[in-house]
Amino acid sequence: MAKLKIQADKTLSRIHKEIYGHFSEHLGRCIYEGLYVGEDSPIENVNGMRQDVVEALKEIRVPVLRWPGGCFADEYHWKDGIGPKANRKKMINTHWGGVVEDNSFGTHEYFELCRQIGCETYVNGNVGSGSVQEMSEWVEYMTFEGVSPMADLRADNGHEAPWKVDFFGVGNENWGCGGNMNPEYYGNLYRRYQTYVRDYHKDYKINKICCGANVDDYEWTRTVLDTCFRRNNPDQHGFMNGLSLHYYVHPNGWQHKGSATDFDEATWYRTMDKALYMEELVTKHSAIMDEFDPEKQVGLIVDEWGTWYDVEPGTNPGFLYQQNTIRDALVAGITLNIFNKHSDRVKMANIAQMVNVLQSVILTDGAQMLRTPTWYVFRMYRDHQDATLVESSIETKQIGSEKEVQVPNLTESVSITADGTLHITVTNLSVEQAYEIDAEIGGKKVREVTGEMVTGDMQDKNTFENPDAVKITEMDGIQITESGLKFTIPACTVAHLTVR
Ligand code: AHR
Repeated sequence: MAKLKIQADKTLSRIHKEIYGHFSEHLGRCIYEGLYVGEDSPIENVNGMRQDVVEALKEIRVPVLRWPGGCFADEYHWKDGIGPKANRKKMINTHWGGVVEDNSFGTHEYFELCRQIGCETYVNGNVGSGSVQEMSEWVEYMTFEGVSPMADLRADNGHEAPWKVDFFGVGNENWGCGGNMNPEYYGNLYRRYQTYVRDYHKDYKINKICCGANVDDYEWTRTVLDTCFRRNNPDQHGFMNGLSLHYYVHPNGWQHKGSATDFDEATWYRTMDKALYMEELVTKHSAIMDEFDPEKQVGLIVDEWGTWYDVEPGTNPGFLYQQNTIRDALVAGITLNIFNKHSDRVKMANIAQMVNVLQSVILTDGAQMLRTPTWYVFRMYRDHQDATLVESSIETKQIGSEKEVQVPNLTESVSITADGTLHITVTNLSVEQAYEIDAEIGGKKVREVTGEMVTGDMQDKNTFENPDAVKITEMDGIQITESGLKFTIPACTVAHLTVR
């Protein structure tokens, strides 16, 4: 019996709802077909946004959506994507599949999508191949209210009122596809570019995100902060609000990523191990940030994370289309538990990517759509959004199928909402073993409990022929005890218990 200890009255950090954020790039069938089908499509749409997908996204309460990239962001020239669609520039999407980008989805369409989903906006600017003026004018176009060249242009294009930009990324992966810069150089560019990301609105300030490290490049984190963190200024707001981190789980390494659906137990455990590595990354990058910013004003923004496998056979290798199984549900559950536990520093995260690309929550095929196992994890974890993390720990043992890959069998995180309800999320990483859990809950009397889970065999997935093979099912047999609860979590499971 594994002991889960929860101290409900020991409250820690707020779990920023943005930890449950998403990312959509002009890549493959994410934007085009996945989200945007155009007004003339036979697929039901409102202003071009497909409604089956929008409804599914509303259900998981998407809090924020990052756009337009990714690598695409540092090649994107926003003026190509405004004005009458027939006049918009057609270009080659050089990064992703060499297909024609007709720019029919641009700034106006992005804000319309966010309006329909009901989420905050996170626009990623172009530092790699764009000018300061271009970035500055984009911010003016989006947010300036009054008479100005860009506000007038926006009004001419049919949108009189400004939009709200909640987050603005000053470049993407500038250590790689965003210009192959070194950290000092980028740090200096950040200082310069961010100056012109102006706060035109009196009611709010744009949160500026500085490009952070790839995986374990701690040198990048340190040098960038050394170059552009505003020392001796007690208020970082208005200069830097976040520093990003990108990390993808490649079970077999970057070169041979392996199949999304056909894998053995050893690969399952390797995948779990790589998902758990996020704990070390977040801890070590946070420790460097603590040296500069002990008050934790600057958030660690994990704005790209998730699994990255070989593309589905027969699909365009540049489109990064992959299936999604119970294994992905576990990666999501483990990762989100890690983010919850580090919510003092991790203030936003964006799974890559929303639809049809990498670890998606939704897949589409023409007019059909399905919710992936990852969608169901976001559905269960949505109650953590803006709740408060409480102190908890779980007894674990090492499991695994290979000597060199040993992982803890269980992970967890617990939050409390304003009405005193506890939300416990637990993952069981074992391929074959169920575990009994004895939850000792201090600081709260348990009156009522319900449980739900995403469970199955490790390769289980949803297909267009069988879209509901994996879904949320009820957990039976949860007992209320003197000290808390007892329950059993099956193998290959992500579970969510609601305790009142
Ligand atoms: O998400 C796919 C790509 O991965 C993004 O464009 C880039 O930022 C990262 O390398």
